[in-house]
Amino acid sequence: MRRYLKRLIDPLIGYGFRAYHSKPRRYSYKGLTVMVHPEVFPPHFTLSTKILMDYISDLTLSGKSLLELGCGSGILSLFAASKGAKVTASDINQEALKGLEQDAELNQQEIELIESNLFKNIPHSDFDYIIINPPYYPKDPKNNQEKAWYCGQDFQYFKALFPVLSKYCTPQNSILMILSQDCPLDSIRAIASQNGFQLQPVHSKKIWGETSTIYTLIK
Ligand SMILES: C[S@@+](CC[C@H](N)C(=O)[O-])C[C@H]1O[C@@H](n2cnc3c(N)ncnc32)[C@H](O)[C@@H]1O
Repeated sequence: MRRYLKRLIDPLIGYGFRAYHSKPRRYSYKGLTVMVHPEVFPPHFTLSTKILMDYISDLTLSGKSLLELGCGSGILSLFAASKGAKVTASDINQEALKGLEQDAELNQQEIELIESNLFKNIPHSDFDYIIINPPYYPKDPKNNQEKAWYCGQDFQYFKALFPVLSKYCTPQNSILMILSQDCPLDSIRAIASQNGFQLQPVHSKKIWGETSTIYTLIK
C-alpha cells in the first residue's frame, strides 16, 4: 500500500511539486538560508536533508575535512562549514554549484566547490567525513533535475559509486549515506556488498510514516 501511494505521489509528477518548484525558492533550516533553483534537489519537500543535518549537528566537525558528494542546494555543506569543518561540496549539476557559490558568500561560509561526476574531478584526499544523500529511484534520468532523484534503471549510480568509493575509505573516516525505506535497499546493499561494503545503520527516523536511515559504510 505504501509503495502504491508512493508511486502516486512520485515527486517529479506531482502537480503541486512542479508548480512550486518552477522558480527559485528560498529554503531555511538551522539558521541558514539557500536559494534553490528549479533544476536542483529541493530540500523543502523531502526529509533526508533535514535528517542528515540533525544527525551531523551532534558530530564534532571542527577542524575535520568533510566531502558532501552530490551537494544539491548545499545547505548541508554550509551547515558543516558553520560548525568549523573544512568542506568540499561536489555535484554533477553546475546549477547547484552556481547557487551554492552565492549562498556561501551570503552565509559567510567558505566551501570548496567541485563540479564532478562522482569522484572524477575530486583530488584524492583522506576526508574525515563523506556524506551522501544519493538518488535512488531506479529509472534513467533524462536531465540534471532528474539526476537528483533517479539512479538509473540498472542502478548505474551505485554501480559506479561503490568501486571508486573504496579508494576514499580509510580505517579512520566515516562515510555516511542516507536511504529511505521506500528505496530498493536490497539491490543497493547487494551492489555495496559486491564491492566489499556493508551498510551499518547508525540512525533511523520515522516522519509521516516514512523511515529514513543513515548508514555508515564499512569496508
Ligand atoms: C538526493 S539529492 C541530495 C542533495 C543534497 N545532498 C541534499 O541532501 O539536499 C542527490 C544529489 O546528487 C547529485 N548527483 C546525482 N548524480 C551524481 C553524480 N553522478 N555525481 C555527482 N553528483 C550527482 C544530484 O545532482 C543531486 O544534487
